[in-house]
Amino acid sequence: MVSSSLSVLLAGLVAAKHATATSVSDFIAQEQPIALQGVLNNIGPDGSLVPGAASGLVVASPSQDNPNYYYTWTRDSALTLRMLVDELIFGNKGVQTTIDNYVTAQAVLQTVSNPSGTLLPYGLGLGEPKFNVDGTRFNGAWGRPQRDGPALRAIALIEYSHWLLDQGDTDKVVDDIWPIISNDISYVGQYWNSSGYDLWEEVYGSSFFTTQNQYKSLVAASQLADTIGTTCTGCDEAPNVLCFLQSYWNGDYFTANINVDNGRSGIDANTMLGSISVFDVEADCTSPSLQPCHSRSLASFKVFVDTFRNGSLYAINDGIASSEGVALGRYPEDVYYNGNPWYLITQGAAEFLYDAVAQWNHQGSISVDTTSLAFFQDLYPSAQAGQTYTKTAATKKVKPSKCTVAATDAFQTIVDAATTYADSFVAVAQKYTPSNGSLSEQFNKATGEPLSAYDLTWSFASFVTMARRRAGDYPKYSWTSGVGNVPATCVASSTDGVYAAATAAGAPNVTATCTSGVLFVVNASTYYGENIYLVGNTTDLGAWDLANAQPLSANNYTSDRPEWYVEVQMTAGEYVSYVYVREEDCGQANIYETVNRTLLVPACDSSATANSPPLLTTNDAWTGPVGTSGDC
Ligand SMILES: *[C@@H]1O[C@H](CO)[C@@H](O)[C@H](O)[C@H]1NC(C)=O
Ligand SMILES: *[C@@H]1O[C@H](CO)[C@@H](O)[C@H](O)[C@H]1NC(C)=O
Ligand SMILES: *[C@@H]1O[C@H](CO)[C@@H](O)[C@H](O)[C@H]1NC(C)=O
Ligand SMILES: *[C@@H]1O[C@H](CO)[C@@H](O)[C@H](O)[C@H]1NC(C)=O
Ligand SMILES: *[C@@H]1O[C@H](CO)[C@@H](O)[C@H](O)[C@H]1NC(C)=O
Ligand SMILES: *[C@@H]1O[C@H](CO)[C@@H](O)[C@H](O)[C@H]1NC(C)=O
Ligand SMILES: *[C@@H]1O[C@H](CO)[C@@H](O)[C@H](O)[C@H]1NC(C)=O
Ligand SMILES: *[C@@H]1O[C@H](CO)[C@@H](O)[C@H](O)[C@H]1NC(C)=O
Repeated sequence: MVSSSLSVLLAGLVAAKHATATSVSDFIAQEQPIALQGVLNNIGPDGSLVPGAASGLVVASPSQDNPNYYYTWTRDSALTLRMLVDELIFGNKGVQTTIDNYVTAQAVLQTVSNPSGTLLPYGLGLGEPKFNVDGTRFNGAWGRPQRDGPALRAIALIEYSHWLLDQGDTDKVVDDIWPIISNDISYVGQYWNSSGYDLWEEVYGSSFFTTQNQYKSLVAASQLADTIGTTCTGCDEAPNVLCFLQSYWNGDYFTANINVDNGRSGIDANTMLGSISVFDVEADCTSPSLQPCHSRSLASFKVFVDTFRNGSLYAINDGIASSEGVALGRYPEDVYYNGNPWYLITQGAAEFLYDAVAQWNHQGSISVDTTSLAFFQDLYPSAQAGQTYTKTAATKKVKPSKCTVAATDAFQTIVDAATTYADSFVAVAQKYTPSNGSLSEQFNKATGEPLSAYDLTWSFASFVTMARRRAGDYPKYSWTSGVGNVPATCVASSTDGVYAAATAAGAPNVTATCTSGVLFVVNASTYYGENIYLVGNTTDLGAWDLANAQPLSANNYTSDRPEWYVEVQMTAGEYVSYVYVREEDCGQANIYETVNRTLLVPACDSSATANSPPLLTTNDAWTGPVGTSGDC
């Protein structure tokens, strides 16, 4: 009674406060603590909105249906933890337990065998994008592997390691954390040149965001390895990754995905989010790590933002002046939830601009070239290519009055305009943030109503990082001093990784040295809308739990050969029991086969490589009753 009327009262106070919060500064002051708490609410074991989440696992959103985001993603978790590590460094000691829980949880997660593979011997399991919130494998169909996860996790852990070293806690870095980083960096060095799914889990090819973070992870790991006096397997690939990173430039903007032909423009938040995730305030704008203030990043930003200045695409952007921020989505061809703006991207645009401003201020100059000219002319119409505008002694202290803007004040004019422009993106997010401060994944492109998963961890985390950049709080440990020159010729390459369970941090000492691929093939005539799953008595096969069964593919199905199949990496030498199951179209009961099948998974072939074909193929035929469409 008391607590419920108290919460009603508090909710009323928050709403009332919000209604009067007109300035961006007031809004941020109010939303930032809500966003930080929103993140913590979604992390196990104590997060108030995520019952059942294991210690240290970050749940993407409490939403369990429409959509079901009740999983832990390696990417979202790592980006969230980077924010928390920065909070720790900025003085919020209260988050350290959560960070330590994450460290332990990731050491364990690295060893969980999953549909992408296992940790041993080739590291393939590290490319798995998501797990159940209790830390068990997720067997459902998904865009896998996703190769940004290991890089982002390594980056978060490297940042934390630097802070621990500053505290004198060298043993914890050397014994517990470096072994986790080392696995992830081995993975990056081995697979950076292999295709994978992008951060939106849709495009199979090469993704700018992935490559850019892979590069940073290799450089930062190499620096940490030097500091603690160890070797870094995989770090030698850095120059090759840097070379490849440059190849995303198409002359006008960074194409989000290459090595794929999907008919898209390649204009995508991917590239803006990449730049802010590698931001280093001390970096030079010409650094080939492609910082926010790089000419090509600025040009890409303008192309991206202007694409959404289109009332036919997003009605809520209709009529907004070209000098003002707009609501931003993932990419113009997006159809997920019918394609809408996202909070983390709209907030990300503000962060991108605050980052660039920080870098110009740090360097004391802004150089405009033909590539960045259009971006700068939006802020300062008389900007000219070939000009460098420098911070004068006067502009360092005194803000010029409007009527006396002279050429020498161009630097400050640009900085002020970029900051105002950044604030205008925050104002867009503010306009569509409900009064209780909850941040969903998206907001409706026509009405502005919150949409898709509610209380999205990444939306909250991105708010906190944006607010920190605006306040002048930057990641402490500079990494771009380790950025090398771009090699004259790019080479396709890979370094074999060295993988071992991070036992000191709490990982089980996984002993299975090998898995064997089994290709399950079954002839099963099905009607349109009916699906086939494989379930069995091992965790690989869902342990008889249909919710964790292996979905089969009908890609090769024909009326002559009604073939369904799935390849599963299974523990070598194990004896398993399995059946196929039909899932009906209108919620009718599942139909199980009337036989229990058994199979001996082949012993592993020690000469097999990461891409070896399956060692065993079944030739099964459906046995049991068939289904009928419910015609719903
Ligand atoms: C591998 O690297 C080469 C050289 O940079 C590049 O041309 C190729 O597209 C890359 N392929 C993948 C899948 O990364
Ligand atoms: C604006 O968006 C609509 C709807 O997606 C699209 O058909 C049109 O080409 C866009 N206009 C411009 C100028 O890009
Ligand atoms: C916050 O407000 C939104 C929109 O009004 C609502 O859907 C959501 O349930 C609220 N969340 C909480 C925790 O009250
Ligand atoms: C892990 O297992 C291997 C092989 O059984 C053993 O040699 C090694 O000492 C174990 N490591 C730990 C930390 O227990
Ligand atoms: C499916 O078809 C493709 C293309 O014909 C073929 O390469 C592949 O081996 C087939 N897979 C199975 C499981 O039959
Ligand atoms: C699975 O079933 C097979 C065949 O009955 C049996 O030999 C094996 O021990 C079972 N495995 C587990 C993990 O129960
Ligand atoms: C197959 O094995 C499972 C698990 O032991 C059992 O529940 C089921 O009844 C068996 N089915 C048949 C047809 O024997
Ligand atoms: C599955 O269908 C193919 C093509 O008709 C046939 O060659 C194969 O023998 C069938 N498998 C079984 C187990 O019936």
